[in-house]
Amino acid sequence: MNILAIETSCDETAISLVRATGEFPVAHYEIQGNAIFSQIDIHAEYGGVFPTMAKREHAARITQLSQQVLKEAELLESGPTVLTDTQTQKIAALLDREPQLTERLFEFLAAYERPDIDMIAVTTGPGLEPALWVGVNFAKALAIAWNIPVAPVNHMEGHILASLYDVVEDEHLAAVRFPALALLVSGGHTELIHMPDWGDYHKIGQTRDDAVGEAFDKVARLLGLPYPGGPALSKLAAKARKESVPAYKSDMPRPMRDSGDLDFSFSGIKTSVRYAIADKTLSGDDKQALARDFEDAVVEVLVHKTLAAINKHQIQTVIIGGGVSANQYLRDQLQQTLHTEHPDCELYLPRVDLSTDNSIMIALAGHAKAAKASNVAAAQLFRADGNLSL
Ligand code: KG4
Ligand code: ZN
Repeated sequence: MNILAIETSCDETAISLVRATGEFPVAHYEIQGNAIFSQIDIHAEYGGVFPTMAKREHAARITQLSQQVLKEAELLESGPTVLTDTQTQKIAALLDREPQLTERLFEFLAAYERPDIDMIAVTTGPGLEPALWVGVNFAKALAIAWNIPVAPVNHMEGHILASLYDVVEDEHLAAVRFPALALLVSGGHTELIHMPDWGDYHKIGQTRDDAVGEAFDKVARLLGLPYPGGPALSKLAAKARKESVPAYKSDMPRPMRDSGDLDFSFSGIKTSVRYAIADKTLSGDDKQALARDFEDAVVEVLVHKTLAAINKHQIQTVIIGGGVSANQYLRDQLQQTLHTEHPDCELYLPRVDLSTDNSIMIALAGHAKAAKASNVAAAQLFRADGNLSL
């Protein structure tokens, strides 16, 4: 099965072609084509992602990126894709408010035959709604043009499956033992998900305010680091650890560490960093120390709550996902702690390039739902939902 995956929930336009062999979860995957355009440089100037700008950038690039991916996968033959008047009208109506995208898509369809694709997987949420709509409408338009079913994908389910991409290369997903626990840590989410089985998700903990990635980004900003701050802050922290720089703030709070439930809170820690800096001028060492003090505290809370969830639900497998799972210190601490406290518990970490937003994870999550993928008519009812929950 050839899956075209589309992800536009935030500031990356990500398209891929993944070939799936077998039925989920006894399946193998091969990436045949993959392209990702990051808008980070465009948004960095403003210190965050602007939804309308993100939408415009997705619309400007999505057709060309899809063409590039299909070419890489060797699925493009000079065309055209022959469209009936009804198909043409439907596509034009769908993309009514995107004249540039409409023009590019019709040009693309006129240039190439229908490629050998079996399904389109597209992120429908959560994320920035204007950005999500670009991917959703583009998927609907391709579905009409090529008569292909579409699977709507929850971005967070994608983050869960991302860490399982490498597993499938030698064994496959059928080897995963349940109940599993997913720790999802991204720019918009911090959640603990209890999974009795594939596709069965129960949120057992979540942040009550900021997401952990958001806290990384805000503290990084206080330290004068460029957006998105997570990776830069983490680099400083690693340096401080290596050079044993003494603490800048030895009483950094561990918010909700001992709250007895599985919820999180990260806005207080950001505030306490702000107070610690106040109107001081920080030296290079101060910044490193503060980055390390912050990362220590945040990672300690994440690991502590993960352990609590493992104990409470007799977890056999821990999966982590989301941009913050790229964090090396979090990876190391989770690995070490599980090794000593729960040696029988399997830990799945995503490949670093599959930790942050990508479309490979959307293809995997789409494949998990392949049997239920909607036909072209039903797919036209999909809506982007910025607040979609697992
Ligand atoms: O999953 P993701 O790419 O996008 C969302 O769905 O939100 O996550 C982005 C978040 C950002 O907050 C970014 O700063 C954070 O992941 N991040 C990191 C690291 N790499 C990315 N945070 C800490 N350490 C990292 N190495
Ligand atoms: Zn994400």
